[in-house]
Amino acid sequence: MDIKGVAVKIARQAGLFLKENIGRAGKVEFKGAVNIVTEADKKSEALIISELQKNFPGHGILTEESAEIRSASEYKWIIDPLDGTTNYAHGFPFFCVSIGFEASGRMVFGVVYDPVLDELFTAGEGMGAELNGKPIKVSGVSSLDRSLLATGFPYDLRTSRENNLDHFSNFTLRAQAIRRAGSAALDLCYVASGRFDGYWEMRLRPWDVAAASLIVKEAGGEITDFSGSPFSIYGNECLASNGLIHGEMLGVLRKKGPAAGKASKA
Ligand code: IPD
Ligand code: CA
Ligand code: CA
Repeated sequence: MDIKGVAVKIARQAGLFLKENIGRAGKVEFKGAVNIVTEADKKSEALIISELQKNFPGHGILTEESAEIRSASEYKWIIDPLDGTTNYAHGFPFFCVSIGFEASGRMVFGVVYDPVLDELFTAGEGMGAELNGKPIKVSGVSSLDRSLLATGFPYDLRTSRENNLDHFSNFTLRAQAIRRAGSAALDLCYVASGRFDGYWEMRLRPWDVAAASLIVKEAGGEITDFSGSPFSIYGNECLASNGLIHGEMLGVLRKKGPAAGKASKA
């Protein structure tokens, strides 16, 4: 079977496993003060790795919960077996499986599956992005003032000064509204499908963004770091938007410290 066929099949399988077991996340371990991993994360990951190895022995595999499977091959799968673990462990139904496929260091295919809404986001390099087989594109909202944005916070936010609270406060005063929904991969897919107009987050890991960054690009969105330089899934900053509000978002991210609110009519 082809890359897309296998990846989609596995994403659906893992997603259905997660959906069936919500409310039974199993033992919760703390990787940090607020960073958890559940048995469901590990089982989803084991299922994905074993299916990939069956279909593509010899490909590299980078996943969140196990050591990287290195290979001499130019192909690498980059996987988040459960993006939105905190949501999942609390029974908040916003989570997904994310599978990206890299060839010689370039993302060439990505799938993000939300089993709760049965929404499958896919993109192939140069082929456009789709939601459940229909083409998607970013929104046409052209001002930050009218934009619905999304973000998230790094797991070390209690101990790091760079914890996004300054940007969050600055954007809160500039955008129409902001959501912190708890799944970076779905946040990006929501930018790709025009539900969010922009999204920013720092200190994400490759598996959070591998598949969804390609989905944003292929849906006509723009994705960079906080200075406007090219985005890398191995980098520290992610700014994704419909392109139209990218400049305004970069301007807000350049500010140091929280902005003062201006008195105006609500
Ligand atoms: C997390 C989610 C969250 C984001 C965190 C990620 P996880 O992934 O995507 O929205 O704010 O930075 O680490 O731990 O649920 O796979
Ligand atoms: Ca994640
Ligand atoms: Ca995860």
